[in-house]
Amino acid sequence: MKFFLDTANLDDITYFKDFIDGVTTNPSIMASHNRKDYQNIITKICNLVHGPVSVEVNSENFEDMLEEGEHISKFHENICIKLPCTFDGLRAAKILSAQGISTNLTLCFSSTQAILAAKSNATFVSPFIGRLDDIGCDGMSLIEEIKAIYDVQNFETKILAASVRNIQHVILAAEIGADAITLPPKILKQCFEHPLTQNGLEKFKKDWENGILK
Ligand code: G3P
Repeated sequence: MKFFLDTANLDDITYFKDFIDGVTTNPSIMASHNRKDYQNIITKICNLVHGPVSVEVNSENFEDMLEEGEHISKFHENICIKLPCTFDGLRAAKILSAQGISTNLTLCFSSTQAILAAKSNATFVSPFIGRLDDIGCDGMSLIEEIKAIYDVQNFETKILAASVRNIQHVILAAEIGADAITLPPKILKQCFEHPLTQNGLEKFKKDWENGILK
């Protein structure tokens, strides 16, 4: 399972760069940066990581999404154009994919949207686990359902688990067989941590300094 970092923070990307296979952004994430710097920030991110960097279009209709997607894709060869799972977004994805541009269908909340993403030849589909959990649904069961459908249909679109809120999401997505997961820096940090590792290290250090091993 590939690990993407869900951020546009260059310090976080630099810190975790040995453990990530790409980056995902969205308009909310990009909004924290100066709009005039937009292309510059995206290019810097692309130069920091070796894998795909998902950048979302802000346009609302098919023609504008297509034009914006084509424009952004020229910033760097690793750009993956993120489009919403709507009629217009899926139409634009189909054309961009046919042009050889990598695409990520975002805001996916149902298996039918995921089927349409695959039929648009999208590179990735991003089911939003956390936002489904927020409204009392089970986000992880959507990942499970999409995985079963994609396997039986031999769809090639990769399942990218998104809207991740805790490390249990990471473990379950790996267990189900998601192809990728995008993690906020805070959650990736938690993946490295366990209180018993920290306690164990402190005990080893103390024992070593006290000479118990002599
Ligand atoms: O990649 C999509 C993700 O950024 C959305 O996360 O936490 O805003 O639901 P969240």
